[in-house]
Amino acid sequence: MTRRDFINATSASYASLLAWGMVQPASASALNLPSNGKGADGKGRKVIILGAGLAGMTTAYELGKLGYDCTVLEARSRSGGRVWTIRGGTKETELNGGTAQTCSFGDGLYFNGGAARIPHHHQLTLQYCRELGVSLEMFNGNNEAAYLYNNRPADATGTDTMANRRVRIKEYHNDMRGYTAELLAKSLDQSALDQQLTKEDIEKLVDFLKNEGDLNTAHLYKGTNRRGYKSKAEPGAGTMPGEVTDPFGLTDLLRSGFMQPVFYNVGDYIYEQQTTLMQPVGGMDAIPKALEKKLTGKIIFNAPVSELRKTENGVRVVYQLAGKPVELTGEFCVCTLPLPMLKNLESDLSGTVKRAADFVPYIKTGKIGLQFKRRFWEEDDWIYGGISRTNMDINQIWYPSFGFQGKKGVLIGYYNFYSRAEAVGSLPVAEREKLALTQGAKIHAQYPAEFENSFSLAWHRIPYTGGGWATYDDSTRKKYYPALLEPDDNIYFAGEHTTYLTAWMAGAFTSAHRTVEAIHARVGEYTKK
Ligand code: ALA
Repeated sequence: MTRRDFINATSASYASLLAWGMVQPASASALNLPSNGKGADGKGRKVIILGAGLAGMTTAYELGKLGYDCTVLEARSRSGGRVWTIRGGTKETELNGGTAQTCSFGDGLYFNGGAARIPHHHQLTLQYCRELGVSLEMFNGNNEAAYLYNNRPADATGTDTMANRRVRIKEYHNDMRGYTAELLAKSLDQSALDQQLTKEDIEKLVDFLKNEGDLNTAHLYKGTNRRGYKSKAEPGAGTMPGEVTDPFGLTDLLRSGFMQPVFYNVGDYIYEQQTTLMQPVGGMDAIPKALEKKLTGKIIFNAPVSELRKTENGVRVVYQLAGKPVELTGEFCVCTLPLPMLKNLESDLSGTVKRAADFVPYIKTGKIGLQFKRRFWEEDDWIYGGISRTNMDINQIWYPSFGFQGKKGVLIGYYNFYSRAEAVGSLPVAEREKLALTQGAKIHAQYPAEFENSFSLAWHRIPYTGGGWATYDDSTRKKYYPALLEPDDNIYFAGEHTTYLTAWMAGAFTSAHRTVEAIHARVGEYTKK
């Protein structure tokens, strides 16, 4: 097997990626705190952890290694929180009168309703995948073969020249690269930058631009095979060199509508979305499931917390089990509840923490999984993973990065945020499905003929979460964030909202480390006294 064959293989495990030198081994080791000396370890010290998401379970796992006696209270019947894989049999009923849904995807079909990609630089996440034996495969985030679609209603004013047609990302990217390189090369040819650069510098820059934009010898952009070949005219055997597609005109591109942020937000530029991205084989919930296995007997499920109290020596938590209140006391509490949940909790929390819970906004976001009886995006459009983008309410279409060439498939028919997510999320599930199919059909005409069933979710309406993730700006970071970093007496806070890695599993993991270190250091101080 060559390196290229390997890269092309669809499910390279992390171990094999490491073996082939394709990813750096994780530098961060799992938390390995030294014992603080005799009597200073956690033995016998009771810690109550609220929430069996990644932050809560990692805290319990690491504190457990140090001898602490942890109990995790989880409101749901499953672990993982926002790390949630939707497959046949998954059930959910959203808040505010949501319709009960039961997923009817076929065997082996799924989509990740929450966390769905792992950047290569999230080394702590990768470290836990290794430690927990979670196999990884590539997640294809950037696919130049996916589409852009600028939707303009018939009655809209404006002159977008490329409205209401799908354009391959590779066409748009390479044309824009070509023209901007040409313009800059021209200005260099005219010695416009003589003042700052030497003649040799300019020659090198022009060489770069020629390559960057695939300019001809006259430094003009006349199109490129990078943007693809005409339909049924790919290079072939004998006398078929391939017919390169014609570029769009520069002014057409500038007026295309693709300068809107929704299209500009292309993966390559964003640190968290740069290649390489990974995902667990079989669904993201492989991570929480593996953590859960390490915590046998320590998680109490179906146990929503109703009170969080401070006591003289620690904490008292009341949770509901089969409709009856149960009380639990401990020395410390680690609260990983998302802030929209903390907001409504009866508690002795300080005013500053309560204000953080009240005022740190969470994003509204939603996804729908659509099952199709044929993987037409692969068969007809040659799209294997990646994302199409549009300014319609569906915003993004995600093609699965697994199960290539299989019979059926599930794609994510929308992934939207803020007002689009609010509008779509407020619809009954049947209406969401209709919207996803109608808008998606503008990009993929195959939708109506191939569609089978769907499952949708709006995170801001999902019980026990109530939002996508914390969204700070400079002002909320300054005003509210600091309260979440300090213990409120014996109550500590963890979760993505207590980090600068909001919206990522890495935030959950790293916040758990921070909390475990803080508790263990405090216990060490007690025993020194
Ligand atoms: N981390 C989230 C994503 O990958 C926001 O979409």
